[in-house]
Amino acid sequence: MKIDHIGIAVRSIERSLEFYREVLGAAPSRRVVVAQEGVEAAMLPAGGPRIELLQPAAADSPLARFLEKRGEGIHHIAVEVDDLDAAAAAVRRSGRRLVTDEIRIGAENYRYVFVHPKDAGGVLLELIEPLARQSAGKAAR
Ligand code: CO
Repeated sequence: MKIDHIGIAVRSIERSLEFYREVLGAAPSRRVVVAQEGVEAAMLPAGGPRIELLQPAAADSPLARFLEKRGEGIHHIAVEVDDLDAAAAAVRRSGRRLVTDEIRIGAENYRYVFVHPKDAGGVLLELIEPLARQSAGKAAR
């Protein structure tokens, strides 16, 4: 497994980007609204694992509730796996919970699912698999 990115909940991507821009000279590779999660995201290249800044895109989104309860800070860690279907099945088989049962497609060309923090040591864990690899694997079959 490999850490793909660390998600950070912020109230304002704009304000947070000022910090990364001024202090680290970093610029986001993309900025998108992910409607299905009620978030707006900006991905910052960081050499290895990236930093994903997240702000609520809707007042009633889970991320808005997260900020209300816990304030700004680390929201999730995303780990890339070889086979997301197998990883999700292993989570279920072990009696642990996924936040949503279905695997979703993200804005950045990967499939993902979240493991519930109560079953992952208090950390919201995003499991991801790049779509390119998945279609390559399918073509090879
Ligand atoms: Co993420």
